[in-house]
Amino acid sequence: LKGETDMAQVRDQWTTRAGFILAAVGSAIGLGNIWRYPYVAYENGGGAFLIPYFFALLTAGIPILLLEYVLGHRSRGSSPISYRRLSQKWEWLGWWQALLAFVISTYYMIILAWALSYTWFSFGTQWGEDTESFFFGQYLGSNQAEGFWDIGGLQWSVVIPVVLLWAFVYFVMRRQAHRGIERMARIMMPILIGMMVVFTIRGITLEGATAGLNALLTPDFSALTDPNVWVAAYGQVFFSLSVGFATMITYASYLKKDEDLANSGLIAAFANSGFEFMAAIGIFGALGFLATQSGTEVEHVVGQTIGLAFVIFPRIISELPWLNSLFGVLFFGSLVFAGLTSVVSLVEPSVSAIRDKLGVARTTAVNWICGLAALVSLLYATNGGLIYLDVVDHYLNSYGLLIGAILMAVATAWTTRKIRDLQAHINQVSDIHIGNWWVLCVSVITPLVLIVMTGLNIVDEWK
Ligand code: PHE
Repeated sequence: LKGETDMAQVRDQWTTRAGFILAAVGSAIGLGNIWRYPYVAYENGGGAFLIPYFFALLTAGIPILLLEYVLGHRSRGSSPISYRRLSQKWEWLGWWQALLAFVISTYYMIILAWALSYTWFSFGTQWGEDTESFFFGQYLGSNQAEGFWDIGGLQWSVVIPVVLLWAFVYFVMRRQAHRGIERMARIMMPILIGMMVVFTIRGITLEGATAGLNALLTPDFSALTDPNVWVAAYGQVFFSLSVGFATMITYASYLKKDEDLANSGLIAAFANSGFEFMAAIGIFGALGFLATQSGTEVEHVVGQTIGLAFVIFPRIISELPWLNSLFGVLFFGSLVFAGLTSVVSLVEPSVSAIRDKLGVARTTAVNWICGLAALVSLLYATNGGLIYLDVVDHYLNSYGLLIGAILMAVATAWTTRKIRDLQAHINQVSDIHIGNWWVLCVSVITPLVLIVMTGLNIVDEWK
C-alpha cells in the first residue's frame, strides 16, 4: 500500500464535472454512433427500431450506466477494486471487463486507421471509380487471406496510420486524466459536433435526401415481433453508451467525492442518442442522394457497416456536385475524431487496473498497455485481418459483453445484495433521486433479457 501512494502519486481526478461529462460523452460517441447505428436501425425495422431502442435505453442502458458510475464513484478505484469492494469473489469481473475493452481497442483502432487514410484520400477523391476494388484490393492489398490461418504479410497502408494513431493515443494517455483525456475531449468534442452538424445539414439538403430519410424512418412494425431486432437494440445501446466494459466505472472513479451522478448519466445518455440520430439522418440523406443519382432504390445502395463507410460513402463523395473533398473530410474526419476519444476510454480501464494492482506510475502502465495494444492491432493489419476482426467482434459482443453484464447484476443484486447501498449512494450525491424502478431494471429486467439474448445467440450459432 505504501508503494501505491509513493509510486503512483496522486490518483487522477477530473477538473470539473463538465470535464467528466465531456470525457464520458467522448467515450460514448464513437464509431458506434456514426457508422453502426444508421445501419442497425435501418436493418431492424427503420422507424420502428426506435421502440426497442428506447426500451433498451431506458431499462438497461441508463440504469447500467448509473450502476457503473456508482461502482466507480463509491470505491474511487479501478474496476477490479470496485467489484472487490462488493466482495472479494467478484474482483475478477473487473479484470474481465477491462480485458474486453482492451481487446476492442485493438481492432477499433484499425477502423480508425482506415478512416484516417480515407480522410486523406478525400482530397481529390483518390479512390477513383470502382470504390469497392479500391478498398478491398488496392488499399487493403489484393492478396486477401484464404482462410483463418493464412496470416500473410502486413498491409503497410494500414500499419502506418495505425502506428501514428497509437502514438497519438500514447501521448495523450501518458498524462494524468485531466491533462490528457479530459483536455482532448474538451478540444475534440466541440469540433466533432460542429463537423457533424455541417455534415448533416449538407446531407439532408442534397437532392434526393428525402428518399433516404424515408428509408431510415418508415416504420416496419412487423420487425417488433422478431426477437433479433430486440437483440440488436440492446447490443447497440450497450456498445454506443460504452456500458459493460468497465469504462464508465473507471471514469467515474476519477470524480470528486460529491458529484452528481444521476444528472451526469442522463446528460451523457441523451447527448449520445441525440448524436446518433443526427448522424443517421445526415448519412441517410446522403444515401438517398446516391440512390437518386443512380436511379435506384435506397435499399440497393445501403451496404453493410464496413461497406457503407468505405465503399458506398466514397461513391457518394465522388458524385457530389461541389466541394466534395470537404464533405469527405467531414465524414471521415468525424469518424477519426469520434473514435479517438473512445479508444482512450477503452484502454483506460486496464491502465487504471494495473496501476492500482501493481502500484506503478501512470506512465509505466501506459507504456505497457499501449505498447501491447499496438502490437496486437497489427494482427488485424495483415491479410487475414478482416477475418480476425469479424470473428473477435462477434464473440466479444455476442458472449463476452452479455455474460459480463448479466454477472454485473448477479454481483450487485443477487449474491452480495449491495444494490440498496448503491442506490442510496447515488441518491446521496444526486439531485434527481432514483427510485425502485432502477433496482428492478438492474436486478431483474435487464439480466432476464440478457439471458434470453445469450440463449438466442447460442441457438443462432447452431443454425
Ligand atoms: N461507445 C463507443 C462507440 O460508440 C465504443 C465504446 C464501447 C467505447 C465501450 C468504450 C467502451 O463507438
